[in-house]
Amino acid sequence: MCRPTYYTIAYEINPWMSLKRQVDGARARLQWERLYSLLTRRLGVRVRCLPPQRGVPDLVFTANAGLVHGRTIIRSNFRHPEREREEPVIERYFKRSGFRVVHLNPRYHFEGEGDALWVDETLVFGFRFRSEAPIHEELARLLGREVLPVELSDRRFYHLDTCFCPLDADTALWFPQAFDRYGRRVLERLVPHLVDVSEADAARFACNAIPIGRAVVMQAGASAALRRRMSHRRFEAHAVDLSEFLKAGGSAKCLVLRLSGHP
Ligand code: ARG
Repeated sequence: MCRPTYYTIAYEINPWMSLKRQVDGARARLQWERLYSLLTRRLGVRVRCLPPQRGVPDLVFTANAGLVHGRTIIRSNFRHPEREREEPVIERYFKRSGFRVVHLNPRYHFEGEGDALWVDETLVFGFRFRSEAPIHEELARLLGREVLPVELSDRRFYHLDTCFCPLDADTALWFPQAFDRYGRRVLERLVPHLVDVSEADAARFACNAIPIGRAVVMQAGASAALRRRMSHRRFEAHAVDLSEFLKAGGSAKCLVLRLSGHP
C-alpha cells in the first residue's frame, strides 16, 4: 500500500475523475488509515508500505504497480504519461526490496493487477482501455500459466478489477455488462459460481474488493441483496468507506497490491 500523503485529483484520465471535484485530503488520509487498520489489525494481513512521493498522486493505487509472482514483479507500462512517472518509483522500491523486476515489451501498455487477476491457476487479463491485448502472450510465457484475455466494454469499468473480483478458486463477483459476449462466455466457463453485481453496486465499486479468506473488504454502500448473495456462498463483506478515492476512480482493491499468496 502507499499512504495518500500527496494524493489529489491533478488530471482526468478516467470518467470518474474531474478537476472540479477535489479530494478532501484529511478525509482521504483517515479513510486510508481505516482500510489499513481493518486489513492489519482485524484481518491480520501483513502490509508493506511504499513511501509516498510528491507529483505522482495516483501512486496510492498500488494495484497498478505491476503483477507480483513469487519474488518477481512484472512492472507496469502505464498508458497515460501522468502515471508513467510512477514507473521509476515502483522500480526503485521493488529492487531495493529484493524483487526481480521484469519489463514487458515497451510498445504495449500493462497496468498490473488492476487488469490481471488469478482464478485459481488461471490468470484473467482485461484489456482495451488501459492494458493492451498483445501483452497476454508475454504474460503467459513469463508466468508459465494459462492467461485468458477478456475485452472490457464499458469505459466506466476501465480496469478489470472494477468489474471482476475472484473470491476463491470457483467464486467471483462480476458486473457482466462490463464485458462483451465473448468475455462473458469465457468467464462463465471458467468460474462455476459467478455472483452478479447490479449496475448500481458496480458503480459504487462493489467489485473493487479485496478477498482475504472468507472476508471481503468492500466499499461501503453495497446493497443488502449483494451481501446476501455473498453470504449464501459463505463470504462476508467488511465495509469500508473510501469515497475520497472513488473520486479518482478507485476503491479498496486498487489501493493494494498482493505480494504473496498467488498460485
Ligand atoms: N486514477 C487512477 C487511474 O485512472 C485510478 C486507478 C484505479 N486502479 C485500479 N486498479 N482500478 O489510473
